[in-house]
Amino acid sequence: MIRFGIVGAGGIAEKFATDIKSVKNAKAVAIASRDLERANKFKDKFNLDYAFDSYEKMAESDLIDAVYIATPHSFHKEQSIMFMNHKKHVLCEKPIAVNSQQFEDMVVSSQKNKVLLMEAMWTKFLPATIKLREVVHSGVLGKLKHAYIEFGQDLRHIGGDTGRLFNMNLAGGCLLDMGIYPLSYTLNLTDSSVKTIKAKAEFHHTGVDTKSIVDFVFDDGSSAKLISSFMEVLDAPSVFEFEKGNIVVDHFHKSEKVIIKDKTYYFPHVSGGFEYEIEAFSKTIEDGLLENDIMTHEQTRKSMKLLDRTRKVFGLKYPFED
Ligand SMILES: NC(=O)c1ccc[n+]([C@@H]2O[C@H](COP(=O)([O-])OP(=O)(O)OC[C@H]3O[C@@H](n4cnc5c(N)ncnc54)[C@H](OP(=O)(O)O)[C@@H]3O)[C@@H](O)[C@H]2O)c1
Repeated sequence: MIRFGIVGAGGIAEKFATDIKSVKNAKAVAIASRDLERANKFKDKFNLDYAFDSYEKMAESDLIDAVYIATPHSFHKEQSIMFMNHKKHVLCEKPIAVNSQQFEDMVVSSQKNKVLLMEAMWTKFLPATIKLREVVHSGVLGKLKHAYIEFGQDLRHIGGDTGRLFNMNLAGGCLLDMGIYPLSYTLNLTDSSVKTIKAKAEFHHTGVDTKSIVDFVFDDGSSAKLISSFMEVLDAPSVFEFEKGNIVVDHFHKSEKVIIKDKTYYFPHVSGGFEYEIEAFSKTIEDGLLENDIMTHEQTRKSMKLLDRTRKVFGLKYPFED
């Protein structure tokens, strides 16, 4: 049984604390918040055993084996490394880091400390996504020709200019927050590398991107159009055209249904959908491995590099980047 401490008593931490209750090989036992009152409230709400008023105190504790980091992106590297230096396994929210260099520093720490480091890209572990990957890799549909994915939510009311979504100092913006989902999903569809990227973005007055339209052309000539926005709802089914038939996925990032050549497969979640990544992460620790076989470091590396390249095309650099 892997004992988790949760880092940051915010929005997504609540979903984690709910979904982990249905996981057999893991348990949330502690919460750390910068604010003791917030930590205690969270502890009581989710029936945890311990509340810490600092992340460092939880890192020093023997009461946990692993942490789930649920703070803004700009803190992921520093906090992950702090926990890994205390020999805690780290499941870190997406994006695991702001850029590739930060991620590589985290990998070094994971190897040095011999602990598991994994990006919490929950979509990769959903049974519907696993089915999709099985079909794609079996080759029955031939090679990918074109992928279309859109993902938009109206998050304008959340946090204001200083909140994590709109704040440049917290690595805000739509691409890193939401665009990462369609982008990393393409890695399920083809092993071909991205040859060219065309990308356009709309920007908020704080400097962060609020919408991006990204076109990938892969080395083998296949292509992908990926649209993300946090100013409007965009939820059309994702359509993947292969040489010998199409795959259609509704609500791809939390999918419970895949249509493969007109045949529909249903995969209802046991809980809210995080249970699959939590179980896989915990099993990887139990197996004594330093990398998960689905969300490998190489998968995260590819996704981080594509995010870096896309940001470069539309000219988004955070104030703390060289
Ligand atoms: N997988 C998913 O579906 C999903 C969904 C939403 C978000 N996320 C990811 O989860 C992470 C957190 O998102 P969220 O929406 O949960 O964030 P949030 O509610 O805005 O903040 C989470 C926690 O981070 C700390 N924090 C927030 N602002 C801070 C600041 N300015 N300085 C220092 N600490 C700060 C606070 O922890 P304390 O309690 O210690 O004060 C806060 O409770 C992001 O990286 C995001 O990409 C993932």
